[in-house]
Amino acid sequence: MTKSLYAIGGGQMVEAIIRAALKNQAISADTTKVVDISPERVRYLKDTYHVTADTEFQTEALVNADIILLGVRPQDKWAELARQIGASGQKKPLISIIAGVTIKQLQDALEAADYPIVRIIPNTLTDTGFGVTGAALNATANQEDADEFLKSFGKVDYIPEEQIDIYTGYAVCGPNYIYNFYLALTNAGVLGGLSRAQANQIALENLQGAAKMLEITGKHPYELLDINNSAGGVGITAQHELDASDFAAGVQNAVLAAIKRTTELGKGE
Ligand SMILES: NC(=O)c1ccc[n+]([C@@H]2O[C@H](COP(=O)([O-])OP(=O)(O)OC[C@H]3O[C@@H](n4cnc5c(N)ncnc54)[C@H](OP(=O)(O)O)[C@@H]3O)[C@@H](O)[C@H]2O)c1
Repeated sequence: MTKSLYAIGGGQMVEAIIRAALKNQAISADTTKVVDISPERVRYLKDTYHVTADTEFQTEALVNADIILLGVRPQDKWAELARQIGASGQKKPLISIIAGVTIKQLQDALEAADYPIVRIIPNTLTDTGFGVTGAALNATANQEDADEFLKSFGKVDYIPEEQIDIYTGYAVCGPNYIYNFYLALTNAGVLGGLSRAQANQIALENLQGAAKMLEITGKHPYELLDINNSAGGVGITAQHELDASDFAAGVQNAVLAAIKRTTELGKGE
């Protein structure tokens, strides 16, 4: 069933969520309201998605909303916004996408006992049907209240809150690692003598094909590499160079740094 939505903060991530949720009819434009402090952003969201948008937070908007989406940044005045939501007396499920900010911090800021909170961590792949949103609920929140909305912009994994920071650094930033790999690989193709267009097309095919192979065979990557790497051949020669490089450590250190940064942001550092 279509939900009416009040989104607070209309930045990149909220836009990606709204776009997919509208397309998949989990929400409709006439019952979606967004508040963002930037007038340009408000104009853009109105013009592009035909939703109602405003620069001022309005307590009255909470009355008509089934779901509240808190989408400002960790460094924005989220606690003040939460206090206003709590003070409204409405107990509409609050879905927070703020990286690093815990359910406990939200609960404290709301200053309202038994407020239903769903803390999620989505990524920007919402238009693709791919991407997994990690979702942690407090004891008062009902999964059914948020489930359809959450599934309209990706797959959903209900997880304990302790896993959210790991999820953020690994899953949410996931596309970043892939974009970087794609860039490194396509540059290698160009360096080897292919045109940019050829290099891009081949890398995209291989990325999608390799992902499909992992999915449909269920094989460990070592098994698939064994098929590709014949004795004394080209594949194993490339493998040797990769093994001797910082490739794996670079990716792993990036993920660990992203997880650490998530935790720091939550502490306001
Ligand atoms: N981008 C991602 O991939 C991603 C993934 C998962 C979670 N998140 C989370 O999503 C949240 C938003 O990230 P984002 O990348 O979408 O950032 P963003 O594009 O900067 O969006 C934040 C928006 O909120 C506005 N804003 C700030 N204070 C406000 C207030 N008091 N009332 C209303 N609007 C306010 C900002 O306006 P101004 O720019 O004018 O200040 C901006 O338009 C963050 O908490 C982040 O942790 C992001």
